[in-house]
Amino acid sequence: MFFPGVERPIRKPASFLFVVGSLATSFLLLGAEPAKGPAEPLENPPIGPFGYSLINTEDGGLLEEGSFQSVEECADCHERQAEEMAGSMHQLAHTDPIYRATAELARVEAGEEVYLHCAGCHSPQGVTMGLFHGTTEETLPDIAKQGILCDVCHQITELTGTSGHWGEPGNASFVISPDEDRKFGPPAGDDAAADHLVETREFLASSEFCASCHTIIHPLNGLRLEHTYAEWKDSVYAEKGIQCQDCHMRSVETAVRVAETMVPATVIGRSEPSGEEREISPHFFTGANANVEQLGGSAERAAMAEARLKSAARLEIVSPESVEAGQPLGFDVVVHNVAAGHNLPTSLTELREMWVELKVLTEAGEVLLHSGGLEENGDISPRAMRFGALAGDAQGNVTYKPWEVEQFLFKRLVPPKGSESDQFEVPLPRELSGRVRIDAKLFYRSAPPKVVASLLGDESFEVKQVEMASANAEIAVD
Ligand code: HEC
Ligand code: HEC
Ligand code: HEC
Ligand code: HEC
Ligand code: HEC
Repeated sequence: MFFPGVERPIRKPASFLFVVGSLATSFLLLGAEPAKGPAEPLENPPIGPFGYSLINTEDGGLLEEGSFQSVEECADCHERQAEEMAGSMHQLAHTDPIYRATAELARVEAGEEVYLHCAGCHSPQGVTMGLFHGTTEETLPDIAKQGILCDVCHQITELTGTSGHWGEPGNASFVISPDEDRKFGPPAGDDAAADHLVETREFLASSEFCASCHTIIHPLNGLRLEHTYAEWKDSVYAEKGIQCQDCHMRSVETAVRVAETMVPATVIGRSEPSGEEREISPHFFTGANANVEQLGGSAERAAMAEARLKSAARLEIVSPESVEAGQPLGFDVVVHNVAAGHNLPTSLTELREMWVELKVLTEAGEVLLHSGGLEENGDISPRAMRFGALAGDAQGNVTYKPWEVEQFLFKRLVPPKGSESDQFEVPLPRELSGRVRIDAKLFYRSAPPKVVASLLGDESFEVKQVEMASANAEIAVD
């Protein structure tokens, strides 16, 4: 079955295999969910000092240099948070080589205002202090390269998304109000003990805060390029009050428990070594990027991302107990999103890839069906049951450059607590007897290797392929 308006990659029916259909228990039609359709393009995109980014300061002008302290300065007292954040994708947000390559292309092909749009989320301090004006990567001051600083999140005074053009957060819709002696803290804090003033900002404990960077809208055509927040907002997690922080500012084990019980979990610790024990929020921000070690993080961080990915999904095979030789064996493969508070995969879905590798084998090990293997160039075989998106430019050609995206050619994502399934059919040879075995594995990788190689101009970057889940079944052949 083809979804209206959604082009699936063509699955050429091979002699022994064809996908019979796709039974989406919870379906995702492009444009069917208003939150994910295009937003109104900006009529007059802001092209002030912050380019197309919606990031702002109190007077709309550039901030003085020195408006942000480095992570090391906060770490003098808040060592715990600094250690937790070290090597996270937040810290690598500017230096991440895959981001760097794409952003430099944006600068050349689309201009400075688009580059600033990118950097408004990937290096907010660089944009608000005007450090990208008239500099190159070589001459850029170091503070701009330090990703998302403590002093970005803890100097945000106001979220402007809901009062802005789109009436929803996105494209760095917030105001930064720096003050060396004042930090904004979450509602759970005990402000009295701090060495600096602390003002409470309730929004720090809410998904809307994360949404200001985790929703990307193409400023010129209104297309939603990343909509993790909208996916969450439509889900049972939002209904039960489970925020992004309840999973991403918790260990993977705790987050899995949160997804199972649908009740947020509290962590007790110290915000600062001399402080009282209190409710804290670990700053690991573990996501799905298992390449994080090669991007400048550590092996430990990569292991955390793998653990998060392995916690997210369950794979199921629905098959008959027996089948007659010479008859086709029909079965369903079902992918369940059990622990992600948003679609699976989410965010940069035009780059992210998730797919099922499937084998049907006889007892003697003869392969009756193999789908979802890798081609020689590293591509996933075109017949695979796959998830993610293909973004297209105005002419309908596939593109990985966010500024070129005018449409989505394909999008298939597993909604939170939902599932997606495909039917398969394999003709069994007449002479077959004994048992037939179905082996299925669910894989994830952050980007197609050939795209990474072309962006980096280097074939040696090894994109990690993570096995998220597996399932198997045995069927008697009568
Ligand atoms: C509204 C905030 C925002 C804007 C604007 C933005 N990004 Fe990002 N970017 C993100 C977030 C959040 C992620 C991580 C999502 C994920 O992990 O899937 C990300 C991830 C990426 C990645 C993936 C990196 C990797 O290692 O896999 C690339 C590449 C990237 N962005 C490039 C760009 C470019 C180029 C632009 C400008 C044209 C841009 N981004 C604009 C927030 C933003
Ligand atoms: C000289 C030591 C010191 C430095 C440097 C310092 N802090 Fe703090 N900070 C504290 C103490 C002490 C507390 C209170 C801890 C507690 O409540 O247990 C605190 C509390 C906080 C809180 C939590 C407030 C709340 O109510 O939950 C935030 C947020 C914070 N600091 C951010 C920062 C940031 C960002 C930096 C760097 C720009 C920084 N701090 C630098 C000592 C420091
Ligand atoms: C119930 C727990 C849970 C909640 C709530 C949750 N997440 Fe996630 N998140 C996960 C899991 C599990 C993964 C790994 C699987 C995946 O990539 O979706 C993940 C992955 C991610 C990724 C990496 C995606 C990729 O493929 O690169 C980003 C970015 C992210 N989450 C952001 C958010 C934001 C923003 C929110 C709130 C709007 C949020 N998450 C809410 C559990 C959660
Ligand atoms: C991406 C945004 C972000 C960054 C970067 C960030 N924080 Fe936080 N921080 C938060 C949020 C959100 C909370 C509150 C979470 C909640 O209440 O659910 C928080 C809570 C805190 C608290 C109080 C709770 C606790 O865990 O102690 C302190 C102190 C703090 N941050 C300090 C820091 C320091 C120091 C750094 C840099 C090493 C830092 N933060 C980096 C978003 C951030
Ligand atoms: C100032 C913008 C900004 C804010 C605020 C922000 N993020 Fe991010 N986040 C990013 C960017 C940019 C990246 C990706 C960097 C990259 O891949 O190069 C990212 C990456 C992540 C990842 C890792 C994704 C992966 O693939 O591993 C997670 C998880 C995440 N953010 C969660 C959160 C949560 C939860 C909050 C709210 C508490 C939050 N972020 C607030 C900009 C932001």
